[in-house]
Amino acid sequence: MNAREHWVSRVGFVLAAAGSAVGLGNVWKFPYMAGTNGGGAFVLVYLLAVAGIGVPLMTAELLLGRRAQRDPVGAFRRLAPGTGWVALGWLGVGSGFLILSYYSVVGGWTLEYILRSLRGDFGEFRSLVTSPWRQLLWHGVFMLGCALVVGRGVSRGIERGNEVLMPLLFLLLVALCVDSLRLEGAARGLAFLLRPAFGQLSPRVALQAMGQAFFSLSLGMGAMITYGSYLRGDTGLIGSALKICALDTLVALLAGVVIFPIVFTYGLAPQGGPGLIFSTLPLTFQRMPLGRAVALMFFALLAFAAFTSAISLLEVEVAYLIDERGWTRWRAALGMGAAIFLAGVPSACSLRWLDALDQLATNWLLPLGGLGVACFSGWVLSGEAVRQELGPRLVRPWRLLVRYLAPLGVGLILLQGALGGR
Ligand code: PHE
Repeated sequence: MNAREHWVSRVGFVLAAAGSAVGLGNVWKFPYMAGTNGGGAFVLVYLLAVAGIGVPLMTAELLLGRRAQRDPVGAFRRLAPGTGWVALGWLGVGSGFLILSYYSVVGGWTLEYILRSLRGDFGEFRSLVTSPWRQLLWHGVFMLGCALVVGRGVSRGIERGNEVLMPLLFLLLVALCVDSLRLEGAARGLAFLLRPAFGQLSPRVALQAMGQAFFSLSLGMGAMITYGSYLRGDTGLIGSALKICALDTLVALLAGVVIFPIVFTYGLAPQGGPGLIFSTLPLTFQRMPLGRAVALMFFALLAFAAFTSAISLLEVEVAYLIDERGWTRWRAALGMGAAIFLAGVPSACSLRWLDALDQLATNWLLPLGGLGVACFSGWVLSGEAVRQELGPRLVRPWRLLVRYLAPLGVGLILLQGALGGR
């Protein structure tokens, strides 16, 4: 058995975890959800949810991982031997497999769109989603890229990859913001995103904001348990969780700053969803001055965001195979990459299937996992263990949040799903 790998630097770890959190969810989902749910009022609830539920849950996952020094399945085996809690680890590993199977197909779309930007001709979104072979090609390229990074290891692959891609992502984002703010519809766009229309605030909007915060932070499937398991004892967990959540939120807000001025300048419908990014926006790029460069930057941004999230999803599976099954890292990365490629074939053939998997994961699997993590870390983990990991000062407030607020919040999201709301 080799010794466990660890992150080389704290910055590297924070960037990798932020890389996991910052994904497709930030760049298209957040702006459009904010736009259709009361703008600034939604943003306010979102910020409260990130602070009140996101930060404590992220701290909890990092804590469980670091304490156990294991993949999610092994973590619950170690922390609660011989109990049913290990099911929570299985849920995470299973969810990760499902999510990556379609996430990588969408990641493939971003590669196709980079190529289309270079050509300066976007064609139709439909022509892509109705051609399985083309999607499979890009899905394969995307998965192979993930497997090659993950195969190189935690510090040499994942940490280094994020240290390159995340600063590039920020640079692209800032450049795109500057460009968008010069547009004639910038003020209207910003007002739409930030103006708090409190009249539109409803329980439904609050739950949407809570759900979005939760998923955008990569919580509920063991990604942060896995990344936490490569931490050494000297990293402050609450401080790290704060930084990761802040970066994720910043990127979501800046993505809104990029998109809404374009939407308002060119008279697009703000509530476009996935179609906005892949079918409406490209048409606009063709009409904008320097549109090709802007398009290229935008889809590169989207591809980087998707890639660093996909890496964290694959790492959960690979960590499981290494820690619980004794596989070598390369074998696990390439074998799992191939398995997930195959599992993604139905998603490349049917947009309905892709959407159904996404609904299953976001509305059910992740909240269930999050509920379990909150209850486990709040009620099962000993106070002594928590004190050793967090230090004496913040144990009580943190425990209050994971014992009561987080289960309540996540429980409401699940209830909303059960009652048929979305
Ligand atoms: N947080 C990622 C996003 O916003 C998605 C993700 C969920 C990644 C769960 C890893 C685990 O796109």
